[in-house]
Amino acid sequence: MTNNVTEFPKRDDVDIEAAQAYFDDLIDRDLRIEPADWMPDAYRKTLTRQVSQHAHSEIIGMQPEANWILRAPSLKRKAILIAKVQDEAGHGLYLYSAAETLGTPRDELNQQLLDGKAKYSSIFNYPARTWADMGAIGWLVDGAAIQNQVPLCRTSYGPYSRAMVRICKEESFHQRQGWEILYTLAQGTPEQKQMAQDAINRFYGPALQMFGPPDAESPNSKQSMAWKIKRFSNDELRQRFVDMIVPQCEALGLELPDPDLKWNEERGHYDFGELDWDEFFAVIKGHGPCNAQRMARRREAHDNGAWVREAAAAYAEKQAAEADTAVA
Ligand SMILES: [Fe+2]
Ligand SMILES: [Fe+2]
Repeated sequence: MTNNVTEFPKRDDVDIEAAQAYFDDLIDRDLRIEPADWMPDAYRKTLTRQVSQHAHSEIIGMQPEANWILRAPSLKRKAILIAKVQDEAGHGLYLYSAAETLGTPRDELNQQLLDGKAKYSSIFNYPARTWADMGAIGWLVDGAAIQNQVPLCRTSYGPYSRAMVRICKEESFHQRQGWEILYTLAQGTPEQKQMAQDAINRFYGPALQMFGPPDAESPNSKQSMAWKIKRFSNDELRQRFVDMIVPQCEALGLELPDPDLKWNEERGHYDFGELDWDEFFAVIKGHGPCNAQRMARRREAHDNGAWVREAAAAYAEKQAAEADTAVA
């Protein structure tokens, strides 16, 4: 398929020193870098990786919830869940568009995912076992996503920051609908309340891991902060998230599965226990409960969509030919 990627000025035409100074100045002044601006190769590469992996996560993240659309307990729940999963598809599309402006065509980015060369968020390699998981995913997973993504609305790369504004608005609806599913279950029968608790027990740890490894083990974070791609460290974001969900969980009448969780008056934050980082790295390396299933499903969906891509390309070609005839 064709794609409309901007041609960037060749390096020979650019005074690198002046361009770097201009770039540094834009970053210093908290202004945005736009697609046609010169940028260091490493900045472009880091962002291409981050934005495309973010896009892949949105697309793969549709799977655990799509799994429950046909089993939603009511028409209202089904309609909400369909809308939510559709939003995630939209997030993927905005983000692929933003990634493409950095110069790598979208089909190439997609191929990296299909070939298993690109990562996506490890959280989506966990199964959604019960209806309560739709609540836990919305509340905890979308909740963690918001915590991560609100600062990205001010990230230094213009197209990425603008995509995040709308995404965050939708994520906040996702989080509320998740909390409301859990709230409803928590007010139900003892079995329903237990189902909600069980979902929280399974998603709490993996949701906290969504912020990435501890700062000391996150070597790329420092450069990303200097470029103002990242605004807060992994540990800072994780702390904010814990501080946010503790009172929300109390309002649910449920518990977070961490015996070390307690308010620290001195720090003005909640202390919480060590996470299972061995599990996190194992899941990232492909050994999570659903990695193989998620990738198989994505490849199947890609193959099943071949006719759509072919039809779209044929239509675009036909339109271009008609436009040519009209001009002639
Ligand atoms: Fe999303
Ligand atoms: Fe979401």
